[in-house]
Amino acid sequence: MADFVSGFWNMWVMVLVALSLLFCVFVLASNMKGEKSESGEAKLHGHVWDENLCEYNNPLPRWWMYLFWITIFFAVAYMTVFPGFGNTKGLFGWSSAHGENSQYAREMKAAEEKYGPIFAKYQSQDLQAVAADREAKAMGQRMFLTYCAQCHGSDAKGAKGFPNLADKDWLYGGAPETIKASILEGRQGMMPPFGPAVGAEGAKDLANYVRSLSGLTHDSARAQKGSELFVQNGCVGCHGMDATGNQAIGAPNLTDKIWLYGSSEATVIETVTNGRQGKMPKWKDFLGDAKVHLLAAYVYSLSNK
Ligand code: HEC
Ligand code: HEC
Repeated sequence: MADFVSGFWNMWVMVLVALSLLFCVFVLASNMKGEKSESGEAKLHGHVWDENLCEYNNPLPRWWMYLFWITIFFAVAYMTVFPGFGNTKGLFGWSSAHGENSQYAREMKAAEEKYGPIFAKYQSQDLQAVAADREAKAMGQRMFLTYCAQCHGSDAKGAKGFPNLADKDWLYGGAPETIKASILEGRQGMMPPFGPAVGAEGAKDLANYVRSLSGLTHDSARAQKGSELFVQNGCVGCHGMDATGNQAIGAPNLTDKIWLYGSSEATVIETVTNGRQGKMPKWKDFLGDAKVHLLAAYVYSLSNK
């Protein structure tokens, strides 16, 4: 309710709720008794079906009426105890997510007390040792499925633009501490667009050269031109003279038959023309060092059985 900027909507909700409840009370109260004739017999409603089937004006059975009353008392009691009636806070100030004493905060605190020592134990261990611990790996995997699988896949094998974390090929390096740094700080891939510099033909030549590096079919005349463009346009500055990449800036090895974005000529042309900026989010603030430690160990264990 605090999300409403003006008090008007709080009042609006309160008035609507109060009126609805009062209306229910009124309808119930006025239907507790049926209509009786002077002789004490129930009157007829006056509705007739199938020529002679009539309906007496009797009230509903008592137990049924009481059930309706109970729902009304429940509503009033509920809105007294819990927030819900406009912006009232409820008797005990219960909140799902706001404030230090909210249900969320209390559950987080309980979890922290329960798991904190376990996290602390692993955090003080060497990543390689943690990666060999079955319990730790299971915890790492659970977190991976929660926080990482939507991008890297539940088997960590990645997808177009999202690197495979289960193989031995690394953009930034596969040493345990490097993996941890990738997760803690995030990574920003920076492949600039070369469309303006080399044009459509140049991009095609470059694509043929890049494909030739990993033994894919290519036009050798174009690949020859591409190899010159590769030097002239400074591709070598990032991918290296031999095109095997540079882990310091996450420039992929272009000779290893492993593709982040795809190997088809059209895809490589697209990569060269428009550039690529893969972004790995930073997890330090959200997960904290201890959880990232477990995640790094888990990721490391995938390619170091
Ligand atoms: C929003 C998508 C996304 C999520 C979520 C995500 N990642 Fe990434 N991650 C990426 C991308 C994209 C890259 C590659 C960055 C680049 O292209 O330079 C990457 C790179 C990495 C790398 C470096 C890989 C290498 O080859 O050097 C590691 C390790 C990694 N992610 C682990 C994780 C873990 C662990 C999580 C969960 C805490 C996670 N990622 C969550 C998108 C994501
Ligand atoms: C400033 C450094 C830099 C320069 C210059 C550069 N690249 Fe890249 N390149 C990268 C990075 C970083 C990536 C990975 C992008 C990502 O992670 O999103 C990349 C990715 C690629 C890919 C995708 C590889 C795959 O596995 O899908 C190709 C192909 C490529 N570059 C070719 C080239 C060519 C050809 C040139 C020169 C015209 C070039 N690059 C110049 C840094 C560079």
